[in-house]
Amino acid sequence: MTFTINKETCTNCGLCATDCPAKTIRKEKDAHRIIPEGCIECSHCGMVCPVNAVRVDGEVLPPYPADTGSLEPEELHDHLILSKRSVRNYSNTPLNRDDLKAIIRAGETTATATNSQYCDVLLFEGDEVPAFAADLARILLKVVKIGLNPAGRLLLKAAGLGRYAKKETITGFHQLLSLTLEGKADPLFHGAPAVAVLTYPARQGKRFGRTDCAIAGENMMLSAHARGIGSCMIGFAEAALFSRKSRARIGVPGDRKIGLIFTLGYSDRKYYRYPVRKNWSLRA
Ligand SMILES: Cc1cc2nc3c(=O)[nH]c(=O)nc-3n(C[C@H](O)[C@H](O)[C@H](O)COP(=O)(O)O)c2cc1C
Repeated sequence: MTFTINKETCTNCGLCATDCPAKTIRKEKDAHRIIPEGCIECSHCGMVCPVNAVRVDGEVLPPYPADTGSLEPEELHDHLILSKRSVRNYSNTPLNRDDLKAIIRAGETTATATNSQYCDVLLFEGDEVPAFAADLARILLKVVKIGLNPAGRLLLKAAGLGRYAKKETITGFHQLLSLTLEGKADPLFHGAPAVAVLTYPARQGKRFGRTDCAIAGENMMLSAHARGIGSCMIGFAEAALFSRKSRARIGVPGDRKIGLIFTLGYSDRKYYRYPVRKNWSLRA
């Protein structure tokens, strides 16, 4: 992408230069100029320009919608953020395609470290979901089998998996995973009609790739929630896909890692009350 400033339109006010995080905009005699080297293509110059003088590959940026009234903080806070639950009971209704596109757009447009935009999504829908769950169950059963005997449970405790090392928990999970192989249970994706797998390149995304995916995923889930679509992060699935071989099996390219996995689907439940949560320690 090439970012340029239209000399005829530019008033040389310098707002673009002061808003540019990469500091690649210089003041010249009649107009400011973008130096391509070092530009991280974040669009801030064009977004902040009061006279719309910035062009991206010759085009202007799409404008924000005309002001339709301000969003009350409570609408965002109480009705969206605080009311978003991890949904584990879904109806069979397939996702509305326009909603799905908008949810993915929410991920695509989320901020990434130095605007790297490394994240990508693999979407599993319909029959692909139980097949994905069965692949994961096969992997997890190998670990769970270790915990079926007392010595194995000690090993799991030593590996920091004490929470899951109770005999009844392990036996129950083993049973459910076995049923998952036959498509008769879904303890991983809870019967969701869709699962999103966010990935990032292992090498370039080493420092912030996972964070980028987590933030994009949260925005996608909030966008879903605003459209009446439930979601749930599935750390178990992520844990099962620790090896490159297992990731390749579900279609993740060899040079990419998983940043976040979450389900999407219409909830079969209605929630009436907010949860209790601990307060964070504030240093006044
Ligand atoms: C990183 C992460 C991983 C999670 N993994 C799972 C999971 O594997 N299975 C599941 O059912 N829920 C999973 N959850 C959902 C949490 O259990 C849930 O967020 C928590 O109990 C609070 O409930 P709420 O999201 O409805 O407020 C995960 C949540 C997070 C943040």
